[in-house]
Amino acid sequence: MSVILEARALSKRFGGVTAVEDLSFGVETGELLGLIGPNGAGKTTVFNLITGVHRPSAGEVVHRGTRLSGRDPAAIARRGVARTFQNIRLFPSLSVLEHILVAQACRARNRFARYWPFLTAGERARRSEALALLAEVGLETRSDEQAVHLPYGAQRRLEIARALATSPDLLLLDEPAAGLNDTETRELRGLLERLQRQGHTIVLVEHDMALVMKVCSRIIVLNFGRLIASGPPAQVRANRQVIDAYLGVAG
Ligand SMILES: Nc1ncnc2c1ncn2[C@@H]1O[C@H](COP(=O)(O)OP(=O)(O)OP(=O)(O)O)[C@@H](O)[C@H]1O
Ligand SMILES: [Mg+2]
Repeated sequence: MSVILEARALSKRFGGVTAVEDLSFGVETGELLGLIGPNGAGKTTVFNLITGVHRPSAGEVVHRGTRLSGRDPAAIARRGVARTFQNIRLFPSLSVLEHILVAQACRARNRFARYWPFLTAGERARRSEALALLAEVGLETRSDEQAVHLPYGAQRRLEIARALATSPDLLLLDEPAAGLNDTETRELRGLLERLQRQGHTIVLVEHDMALVMKVCSRIIVLNFGRLIASGPPAQVRANRQVIDAYLGVAG
């Protein structure tokens, strides 16, 4: 297996707070890697460092052999790193389908197509690709609805579809099960398993331990910004430090 992304001795300080400290890990092509830890452990900050929202205070992120740190978020998305947000961020005025069309345009080579995704040639092909993607997340019948009016679980699935529409080679999901009911969580689990079977490489930040333990092949654990454990689910679940820091209360 090849390593698609590497965090090397990554640190991030916000004033006096050290959110991430000397963190190194790799993501292998095709794996579904879990990133867990208590509230405030630094998980979202790791995603922000990978996607260029924040610059590391020290260390670097390397994606397919290229240093990402210092690049802007749009350039990193165009390279193939896509994410969802812990707090859903949809465009208030766009329909479900339009979210996908805009995201497809993000990686378009042609600048015109990037800025005017609804007007260029090839629109029909992209529309049918977009509808296929919506079908993948169970939203094909809601394509014309305004996204912000969808039920919560559907909004979360749309965020994933929007990320997938950029044709990413790495997908970062920040608490996709947060706020979902049992049925929605089951649907999400099915979606994650399908995505993994299709060969997607995913990093999953999630507090739903049943979900993480079920779908992830490997898990890394943060506590106060530091890596305290990494390994297959069964091994991480039995780790004393992980139980004391996190699973004792969450698991
Ligand atoms: N932009 C910021 N400015 C200042 N402090 C920040 C910022 N972002 C994160 N932090 C701090 O960094 C630490 C790590 O936060 P982060 O959001 O990465 O944790 P998390 O593991 O994602 O937590 P949760 O499970 O609650 O989402 C926290 O102490 C947080 O308050
Ligand atoms: Mg977070």
